[in-house]
Amino acid sequence: MTLQPAPKIKLAHVRKEFGGTPAAIVAVESLSLDIRPGEFLAIVGPSGCGKTTVLNMLAGLEPVTSGTMTMDGKAISGPGAERGVMFQDYALFPWKTVAGNIGFGLEHGPAGHGLSRAERDARVARVIDLVGLKGSETKYPHQLSGGMRQRVALARLVANEPEILLMDEPLAALDAQTRIILQDELLRIWGQDKPTSERRTVVYITHSIDEAVFLADRVVVLSSHPGRLKRIVDVDLARPRNDETRKSRSFSELSQTIWELIREEAYRATMQ
Ligand SMILES: Nc1ncnc2c1ncn2[C@@H]1O[C@H](COP(=O)(O)OP(=O)(O)O)[C@@H](O)[C@H]1O
Ligand SMILES: [Mg+2]
Repeated sequence: MTLQPAPKIKLAHVRKEFGGTPAAIVAVESLSLDIRPGEFLAIVGPSGCGKTTVLNMLAGLEPVTSGTMTMDGKAISGPGAERGVMFQDYALFPWKTVAGNIGFGLEHGPAGHGLSRAERDARVARVIDLVGLKGSETKYPHQLSGGMRQRVALARLVANEPEILLMDEPLAALDAQTRIILQDELLRIWGQDKPTSERRTVVYITHSIDEAVFLADRVVVLSSHPGRLKRIVDVDLARPRNDETRKSRSFSELSQTIWELIREEAYRATMQ
């Protein structure tokens, strides 16, 4: 018997309603889920099934209506530096350089508390190197491609060294080739070569099934109206993952399994 470590984050019977009477929208219903320390967890499901709502609740940006959401046994009741968020739109400060954007949280937020100026600068330099932005430190966001801007957003997230990385479709706005390159980069930066105990926990929202299978240890499939847990699919593909993974038969089989779980609803969503 293998012992599972205690969950890092635990959702128990989470429900989320929006709006008041008479027409409240139930965005998430009865969602129970254990998120393990160091795992890369992807959440997929048709548009409107509550993916962003789940992420916002994890980030502490939205309260749960009922049920509980805990991290290390403590209720999540608001945003915290131990949970870093990255969204689809770059959300960079246009008046700050690449280095200024990446160092912003360290300079102004709790992530930089206790660090000297030199330590902050060293960390920004290390992260710039890590995400492949060397040479672009003094550029401004408008001078960068979409892919480079998402590298900056990722670098900013990583620079703050949160325990949990919460990512809502971070690559969705990019073209297909850039997306594939950044998937590879993301796994490298996350540390897929390291033992699980040294990895950070990632919750990654995507509407791309292939992306979920390529990146994740487990894929949570949600159904919509209201968002409920449909299935959790274990992705037992070896790491490190690379182009060989994408070409493998097990990869296509897993993608196909998940597609079959959401096909009917995805079809219905196109008819609304
Ligand atoms: N702030 C809000 N007010 C009212 N309804 C909302 C709000 N945010 C999301 N919803 C509704 O909740 C449901 C889930 O939305 P969302 O979490 O954005 O889905 P997804 O990210 O999976 O596309 C949708 O029906 C959406 O219209
Ligand atoms: Mg969304």
